[in-house]
Amino acid sequence: MKTSFDPTQAAQALSNLQNIIPAPAEVHSSGGIFKLADHTPIYVDPGSAEGKIIGMYLADHLKPATGYALPVLPAAGTLPPGRITLTAAGADLGLGAEGYELVITTDSLTLRAPHAAGLFHGVQTIRQLFPAGIESPAVQSGPWFLPTLTIRDYPRYEWRGMMLDVARHFFAVADVEKLIDLLAYYKMDRLHLHLTDDQGWRIEIKSWPDLARIGGATEVGGGPGGYYTQEDYKEIVAYAQSRYIMVVPEIDMPGHVNAALASYPELNCSGVAAEPHTGIDVGFSSLCLDKEITYQFADDVLGEISALTPGPYIHIGGDEAAASKPDQYIGFIQRVQASLRSSGKQAVGWEEIAKAKLLTTTIAQHWNSDLALQAADQGAEVIFSPADRAYMDMKYDESTQLGLIWAGYINVNRGYTWDPATNLNGFPINHILGVEAPLWSETLQTLQDVEYMAFPRLIGYAEIGWSQQTVRDWNGYRDRLAAHGPRLTLMNVNFFHSPEVPWKE
Ligand code: ACM
Repeated sequence: MKTSFDPTQAAQALSNLQNIIPAPAEVHSSGGIFKLADHTPIYVDPGSAEGKIIGMYLADHLKPATGYALPVLPAAGTLPPGRITLTAAGADLGLGAEGYELVITTDSLTLRAPHAAGLFHGVQTIRQLFPAGIESPAVQSGPWFLPTLTIRDYPRYEWRGMMLDVARHFFAVADVEKLIDLLAYYKMDRLHLHLTDDQGWRIEIKSWPDLARIGGATEVGGGPGGYYTQEDYKEIVAYAQSRYIMVVPEIDMPGHVNAALASYPELNCSGVAAEPHTGIDVGFSSLCLDKEITYQFADDVLGEISALTPGPYIHIGGDEAAASKPDQYIGFIQRVQASLRSSGKQAVGWEEIAKAKLLTTTIAQHWNSDLALQAADQGAEVIFSPADRAYMDMKYDESTQLGLIWAGYINVNRGYTWDPATNLNGFPINHILGVEAPLWSETLQTLQDVEYMAFPRLIGYAEIGWSQQTVRDWNGYRDRLAAHGPRLTLMNVNFFHSPEVPWKE
């Protein structure tokens, strides 16, 4: 369908083109507009179940605000003008596992990607190209225009994640699913769940049932805690998968284990169960590395977690094991790493694991030292989560009520203006797997608290992970972020209205 050129509407559509986050690799505007009609068909590849689901996801997301029930149809023969097409046909394989190409003309929109993840990411770009009102849960008056353009886009890094600490405080399945939708909107692809710590054990383990029953019964401050049943966890994993996000479960060992020690006396060297811990100190607990039962425990727990987790990565923690003897720590990490490998999984651990001899398939997570250099020397890949840049539990500034400050204040600018490639002096860039922003929950009790600390900083980490360094700069980002304020509001996100950002109404 042809739409006559209207300078005001074109200007508005073009301004959306300026505001995509993460910034695409290449955008070429052609200055016109495409109009979405109430009957615009969304064509998908016949025989592609994933393509059809993504087409329906797009139709579902456009429906509340437009009121349009767009039909999702298998493409066949000559397609009519005015259509949307999502397809793998003729897609450039050079776009990789997650890249896509979007071509919008005055009478068609074509999203092409060699793989389904690319189509899914491209759909997020389409959502952002509409006016902010497209995210409204209630019907808005149209018309609905998109700018005509060509976008070619693919990620800089493979690993673009957030970590949520559900151990210090527990968060419900629905809370996690809302976060997953927000991660997807910004093209992130990993959700690391910190499932166990001194204060709580948050995942049902059938062979050691008291871990969740006793270890999950409290949290920081002494509240009731909680845990995910294995069915809950499977639901989270499946929900994330449907958004092209992989869940990375963490069982933190051999330190940060007081909740396990409180659940089973035999895991303690003394043979006496530890008291539950509801404070926020760290570094005081260790599995009893002298006892064979400890290794049986680790194998049982990781075996169940591995069976529940379709992705290849199992995070074993390994941080702040000050209460474990150094040589025993090394032996434990190596043993657990090997046992995961023999069951086809890859161990991920905080950078301290670099003290052990690492397999080249093991992944280290940089947070607070230069141990990641030793991990890379051993051939491991590294995820960048530098605490003084990427820890979303750090306060924004002196006015922030929630959060901690041990790694300093991290305002939106400080969270955005760093580059993994230059973050650690001398780090070999070919060992950078990606970026992850952890959110520790010592001070966070509700989803609203989580959102306040994560947003807007998380959006910056999404861009650091996805966008090429050449298309990133603070001034441009700040203005694009400002335009996302109304979208976050419509998505009911309790974000910090940072004074650094000229938020749009
Ligand atoms: C950590 O912050 N202990 C990884």
